[in-house]
Amino acid sequence: MARLISSLSCILILTILLFPTICLSKTQNPESQAAEASAALFIFGDSFFDSGNNNYINTTTLDQANFWPYGETYFKFPTGRFSDGRLISDFIAQYAKLPMIPPFLQPGVHQFYYGVNFASAGAGALVETFQGAVIDLKTQLKYYNKVVIWLRHKLGNFEAKMRLSRAVYLFSIGSNDYMSPFLTNSTILDSYSESEYVGMVIGNLTTVIKKIYSRGGRKFGFLNLPPLGCFPGLRVLKPDKNGSCLEKVSMLAKLHNRALSKLLVKLENQLLGFKYSYYDFNSNLKQRMNRPAKYGFKEGKTACCGTGQFRGVFSCGGRRIVKEFQLCENPSEYVFWDSFHLTEKLYKQLADEMWSGSPYSDVVRPYSLKNLFFPRV
Ligand SMILES: *[C@@H]1O[C@H](CO)[C@@H](O)[C@H](O)[C@H]1NC(C)=O
Ligand SMILES: *[C@@H]1O[C@H](CO)[C@@H](O)[C@H](O)[C@H]1NC(C)=O
Ligand SMILES: *[C@@H]1O[C@H](CO)[C@@H](O)[C@H](O)[C@H]1NC(C)=O
Ligand SMILES: *[C@@H]1O[C@H](CO)[C@@H](O)[C@H](O)[C@H]1NC(C)=O
Repeated sequence: MARLISSLSCILILTILLFPTICLSKTQNPESQAAEASAALFIFGDSFFDSGNNNYINTTTLDQANFWPYGETYFKFPTGRFSDGRLISDFIAQYAKLPMIPPFLQPGVHQFYYGVNFASAGAGALVETFQGAVIDLKTQLKYYNKVVIWLRHKLGNFEAKMRLSRAVYLFSIGSNDYMSPFLTNSTILDSYSESEYVGMVIGNLTTVIKKIYSRGGRKFGFLNLPPLGCFPGLRVLKPDKNGSCLEKVSMLAKLHNRALSKLLVKLENQLLGFKYSYYDFNSNLKQRMNRPAKYGFKEGKTACCGTGQFRGVFSCGGRRIVKEFQLCENPSEYVFWDSFHLTEKLYKQLADEMWSGSPYSDVVRPYSLKNLFFPRV
């Protein structure tokens, strides 16, 4: 059916434009032809999406997850993903009928027709965020530019632009910009007001979105920021240790989400053809933390892997500063996998909502990811 439509549109273009090379070039390369079946997926951001890029940079084990028990449930070996199994971006690729999207830095990855994953655990929109240990968003954009050049070389400028404009660009970025000042000795927050700092994060993200748009990108998917101060790894930073959330970080996430939401409406008005999907990660994670049983979990606040109160000491796997850690029997009973990350079961629930929305509320708006990948004509 898709083939028929594609040949029909070829004939249409042929007769209208009298430009046969467009149709002929489509039949030249079997590899690129196979990839035409679905829109490509380009993934940017942090550990919520990193499928192994940080395995290939010289960094600290703080930003790596290529050791047991990471990956124990689905892959049965550590891939570099910060979870027991698959991530949101893995499920989205599957629903879009794409193969697993490989990390850009993985040796032997030389084919980008289906897209590629640039995300890096610990990364932020600001270069200062965990500087030196992560691939910041600006560098991720540099890698994307290399892929654009590769596609132009393989497909020609016209076809490359078509592919880039049909592709979906998925982002998870910002969490580390707001958490890192609390996790390191950085004094960056002393130099700016809260709204100035959020403005800088959003400003740098905007630059990247506009660059991708200028290369042809039109369809963008965003997670907003979760209630960061309630992550086990931040709860334990409270001096009184009474188990409440570190409200200052959650407040920054809230300010960021308001600014991001506004930005996307603005870009939609500014940039012709710009379409986006905005997923309310924040309220959907909060619901599961507060009422785990309703969503099939037993524990909403304590992590499966780590040590100390709420297993908030970031020691999962025993390769970081603190070596001692406990590991739960069954990760699927937990919302949190380690001090800062979620279980595969939780990620799948969120991915399902991002893909097709919820019949009960507008958790994803104005488009679901399904609408972006498979627009109704
Ligand atoms: C990684 O570290 C090794 C040894 O310290 C060094 O030789 C290599 O150039 C580094 N690679 C990168 C990408 O920084
Ligand atoms: C912060 O600085 C103090 C004193 O200089 C040092 O003991 C501590 O290890 C540092 N913490 C981090 C996370 O760098
Ligand atoms: C991007 O972040 C840097 C700090 O890393 C800041 O100086 C700059 O103003 C930001 N850019 C925008 C457009 O906000
Ligand atoms: C924990 O302490 C904070 C003040 O530091 C207070 O506002 C909060 O109510 C306390 N929470 C509990 C559960 O005791």
